[in-house]
Amino acid sequence: MRLTRREFAQSGLATGVAAALPTGLFSACSVSSNAAGAANSAPLATSRNMRFDSACEIPFPKNFFWGMATAAYQIEGSWKEDGKGESIWDRFAHTLGKIKNGDTGDVACHSYHRWQEDIALMRTMNLNSYRFSISWPRIQPSGSGPVNPKGVDYYSRLVDALLEARIRPFVTLYHWDLPQALEDAGGWPDRDTASHFADYVELIAGILGDRVSDWTLFNEPAAFTYRGYLQGELAPGRENIVDFLRATHTVNLAQGAGFRALKATRPSARVGTALSMSACEPATDSEENELAAERAHAITNLWFLEPALNCRYPEAFTFFPETAMRIKSGDLDKMKAPLDFIGINLYYRTIASAPTAIERFSHAQQWLFPVKMVGGEQGPKTDMGWEVWPQALYDTVMRITRDFNHPVIEITESGCSYNDGPDAGGMIRDTRRIEYHRQYLQAVAHAIADGADVRGYHAWSLMDNFEWAEGFSQRFGLTYVDFKTQQRTIKESGRWYAKVVAGNKLPASVG
Ligand code: FCB
Repeated sequence: MRLTRREFAQSGLATGVAAALPTGLFSACSVSSNAAGAANSAPLATSRNMRFDSACEIPFPKNFFWGMATAAYQIEGSWKEDGKGESIWDRFAHTLGKIKNGDTGDVACHSYHRWQEDIALMRTMNLNSYRFSISWPRIQPSGSGPVNPKGVDYYSRLVDALLEARIRPFVTLYHWDLPQALEDAGGWPDRDTASHFADYVELIAGILGDRVSDWTLFNEPAAFTYRGYLQGELAPGRENIVDFLRATHTVNLAQGAGFRALKATRPSARVGTALSMSACEPATDSEENELAAERAHAITNLWFLEPALNCRYPEAFTFFPETAMRIKSGDLDKMKAPLDFIGINLYYRTIASAPTAIERFSHAQQWLFPVKMVGGEQGPKTDMGWEVWPQALYDTVMRITRDFNHPVIEITESGCSYNDGPDAGGMIRDTRRIEYHRQYLQAVAHAIADGADVRGYHAWSLMDNFEWAEGFSQRFGLTYVDFKTQQRTIKESGRWYAKVVAGNKLPASVG
């Protein structure tokens, strides 16, 4: 049974977490629950009908990773400095009409030069994990061949400084900025890109692997293949279903090859991937909509996970487009990547329904994939228009836990865009962001209590930054960035998060 949003928002989750943690960690919270004590006997419930005392604080497991996330193109700037090659995002953002207000990531947050300031922010917010990405064209300007020593130095210094600050460097190897030279040679739809990726991974593992132990191979492969090759709203801006399908297969091959390359170079590395997930719910309980929701789940959540863990594609389509995807014999085994953890990026839920017969016949794509997907409408919306629905995080973590035999999970991203700016006193009072993270963290605590092995949470984002096609119009940061002066100011949410981290617990909710 699902909790209503209201019930969920009111929940304090103390009993569940208490059941999962050693006794003695808990304050004497009064909890009215019909499931108290049931957490151990039914560890993998889909959801629980539980009411919590919202005045309770919620402790997190010892050694929990409290982090924030960024991506190279979104923060670094210096797009052609020190030998960096052009990426598909440089090219895309420099193409008229692609990005809101003509914004580009040429300067972004200037982190290529201000990384020390950024680490100081992390220290102030008490983080013990920082998820950032490496710009492939900074390392290999044309996507293959020798390394660019200045690019290597930048990441090497960053990693050293993070370690010195006792912050885990959590490296994403690919967060959407493919070297343009590789796009010119065919991009992700071209199989050769997979072996170039593996070479790049091997290089990086050799350079940073003595100091970095936690890696994500890809960030949101479903998002960058779908929105970059089919919808055209992200780089490289293609709109072709065959390109999209082929790109997904190359990325799955690259995930396998990259995994092997990393493990061969650094056998003790912990390697995962960060998937853009969503709880896919049927619009109604009709059989067609239930099936549509399962197809939505397959394409959204499983398309890059089933290949890695089980060497197969999930059933998303009415028929499997094997020929269009150019799957060769032996490919399924090559996709294997027994991930050490599953990274979940989750912001909202998806409501799925089946198209009508007319819709199916009038769009080739809907014939292959007969699903309509929209965001939910019941919860409050962020400035991005995304519904705030913390239950989606709980449901997704529990489903992955159940369906993949209890894997280690990291929440690699979750966050919200609210464009609150400084008040007269220079404070950024983003209380809606505090509420967002409080509720999504409650969802995580709830899932841990119910048996999920979640090791960390990374708020998106450390600071306001370049939000892809939205340019600088959407602020996701827990730090405010004045893009004219590059001045950074920690928002109220950042100060709140710092306290959460310091106490390793969610404080009791006020009001
Ligand atoms: C995710 C991306 C991340 C950021 C957030 C808001 O899909 O991984 O780079 O843009 O959305």
